Amino acid sequence: MAQITRDPRDFWKVLAPRLTVLVTTMDRQGRTDVSAFSFVSPISFDPPLIGIASGVKKHSYDNLLQKREFVVNLPTEKMIEKIAVAGQKWDPHVSKIERAGLKTKPAVHVGPPLLAECPVSAECYLEEAKKYGDHVLLIGKVIALHVRDELVDEKGRLKVALVRPALHVADNLFAFPYVSKEAKG
Ligand SMILES: Cc1cc2nc3c(=O)[nH]c(=O)nc-3n(C[C@H](O)[C@H](O)[C@H](O)COP(=O)(O)O)c2cc1C
Repeated sequence: MAQITRDPRDFWKVLAPRLTVLVTTMDRQGRTDVSAFSFVSPISFDPPLIGIASGVKKHSYDNLLQKREFVVNLPTEKMIEKIAVAGQKWDPHVSKIERAGLKTKPAVHVGPPLLAECPVSAECYLEEAKKYGDHVLLIGKVIALHVRDELVDEKGRLKVALVRPALHVADNLFAFPYVSKEAKG
């Protein structure tokens, strides 16, 4: 089979799928926003750090720099229409949270809300923002982790087959994980 050489800038469309998260943010006036991200990676166990790469011309990015707090929420298969709304640009005066029909719950330590339908939500403080190319790598410290108890196993691992997290390929194209038996190493 022929290997085709493609534009290196398309790497992210084929090194896929990636976990999709919905990040809630808040500006200084207390207005909230939600945006979808899939350039997301754990960075450190202890302290617990998560990295998200964001473009700069975004309302959520402006909010993040203002309040330096955010919540990373894990959406499920049932929420893909909501993810699609959260992944678009809207007039910043229109609440994307309302537009997407997302219900919220207050967070414990930060201003931005938790998304009620998401089985996992991590409250974060923004530790660092560093530009790489056309994105900024946002490093968040997880300060509180909310997990629906019945959706994790005895080792604290996500029951993926029950949750069915949305994996992002590109645009509004998603994949849903098939769960293998635990591999014997
Ligand atoms: C599934 C999905 C994943 C996305 N991942 C990212 C990402 O990792 N980084 C990014 O900058 N934009 C990403 N986007 C686009 C942003 O979500 C979009 O630009 C943002 O919602 C704009 O709205 P805002 O101005 O309110 O922040 C993604 C969109 C979708 C639908």
